[in-house]
Amino acid sequence: MKVIMLGAPGAGKGTQAKKIAAKYQIPHISTGDIFRANIKNGTELGKKAKTYMDQGLLVPDELVVDLVVDRLNQEDCKNGCVLDGFPRTIPQAEALDKALKSLGQKVDYAVNVEVPDENIVTRMGGRRACVGCGATYHLVYAPTKEEGICDTCGGGLILRDDDKPETVTKRLNVYHEQTQPLIDYYAQAGILKEVDGTKDIEDVFREITGILGE
Ligand code: AP5
Ligand code: MG
Ligand code: ZN
Repeated sequence: MKVIMLGAPGAGKGTQAKKIAAKYQIPHISTGDIFRANIKNGTELGKKAKTYMDQGLLVPDELVVDLVVDRLNQEDCKNGCVLDGFPRTIPQAEALDKALKSLGQKVDYAVNVEVPDENIVTRMGGRRACVGCGATYHLVYAPTKEEGICDTCGGGLILRDDDKPETVTKRLNVYHEQTQPLIDYYAQAGILKEVDGTKDIEDVFREITGILGE
């Protein structure tokens, strides 16, 4: 099962993708997480990506596509995967279709997590990420058991560099311009599934499992 997660920044793609990966036993591939890991490790790719990410801009397609195609060719993706944050442009979607076709596969579901812009800014301000394992929390909606400490690994929590309000606004604009057209793209392909992302995390997940099957 190949699933892609669509939705604005902060819509809950990562939150739901992790739950999908755990339930259906498929890898969670987040291009944002891959870039953040590269930034943390000081790689060339990380240095290049950071200049775009800090401004709320998309990293150029040519830096993203090969990375994802390589990842899809790995053994653990044979039975499926959930892609989170990719594709984000029409050329990326076309490159994905082409790569999967050459493997005799296709995207099965494009799940669009719908959240209006007004809700997004509050969500992002409360988001905290673990410096150790990358787990995501929210001060109000998904708090840790102990304040400021990751439930999974005990690491410290930080606000992501690109979650400052002015960068969030920029990311929303970029989303509407460059990523929203993918909704039509997948509607035309007949695989678009819309879910209401304003509900509680568990309710959103229930809607998604209703689509993907038990
Ligand atoms: P990326 O890391 O993908 O960021 P994004 O798309 O902006 O999305 P987020 O990760 O911010 O949000 P999310 O939808 O995953 O929400 P989350 O589950 O965390 O990309 C970052 C940057 O990398 C991009 O700006 C770009 O520069 C670059 N990049 C990445 N991929 C690229 C690509 N393919 N091409 C080019 N550039 C690329 O939830 C948000 C918060 O809300 C959390 O605190 C969570 O706990 C909480 N929450 C979640 N669900 C709910 C709910 N139902 N109710 C209440 N709170 C909730
Ligand atoms: Mg995310
Ligand atoms: Zn952690």
